[in-house]
Amino acid sequence: MKKTTKKIQDFKTGGKKITALTAYDYSTAKYFDGAGVDIILIGDSLGQVVLGYKNTTSVTMCEMEIFTSAVARGVENAFIVADMPFLSYQASVCQAVENAGTLIRAGANGVKIEGGSDYIINTIAHLVESGVPVMGHLGFTPQFINAIGGNFIAGKNLENTLEILEAARRLEAAGVFALVLEMVPKECAKFISENLKIPTIGIGAGAGCDGQILVSDDVLGRYDNFTPKFARKYADLKSEILNAATAYIKDVEAGVFPNAEESFELSAEELKKLENFVKNKRV
Ligand code: KIV
Repeated sequence: MKKTTKKIQDFKTGGKKITALTAYDYSTAKYFDGAGVDIILIGDSLGQVVLGYKNTTSVTMCEMEIFTSAVARGVENAFIVADMPFLSYQASVCQAVENAGTLIRAGANGVKIEGGSDYIINTIAHLVESGVPVMGHLGFTPQFINAIGGNFIAGKNLENTLEILEAARRLEAAGVFALVLEMVPKECAKFISENLKIPTIGIGAGAGCDGQILVSDDVLGRYDNFTPKFARKYADLKSEILNAATAYIKDVEAGVFPNAEESFELSAEELKKLENFVKNKRV
């Protein structure tokens, strides 16, 4: 059954933890969907783990559109959220609506937007009013990396915690259906979660959130440049990939790949003709 914003919000009231993972390609999205994950996010983290950029600020709308459409083709049931990339929603509300429309047409069911300033809240209210489900994102907001100068834990004291709660409440009033809390101390995230009606989805924010999200390449052990403290590795695809590539190279070099079953063959009649041709012409 297709997940909707209503079902996701009902999970909070019903006490079921919401599960979310990022995906960027058709097959991974299909497998995560088959496993029963509630939300699949085409995160702009794809800038690092798929495209090899230093951070998410290089990601373009065009890239988000391509990966969103690939994921959407693999998903039947999960609610699909696509990240609005850096500066794709700041120039004007009109630009935000057009870019959100592009991601929805590519197959997303909703979009995610980082930040909680007045300007962002106004933009989100406009999108929600226009029929675009929006997920908020507070705490550490990676698109602000150049402005804040690094990956910092947010909400480390009471004052910051209350600031995040205030922004979260304003996002809730603007109509976001859920809120990502990234790299926030667990006590702070729990307090914020308990003081919101909408569900919180934590990443590096402890078990007190209403759900959890992780970057798929961390979960699958495929990206090795950097693994955050909060990421749990459920598989070691990097080793699997290395082992597969090494075995393939060995087999090709030894002449044992491909074998007869992995090859096509001529009919006996055509083979005879070829043999005669070679014998007579000596090509
Ligand atoms: O881009 C992303 O993958 C994200 C998650 C970390 C929440 O925003």
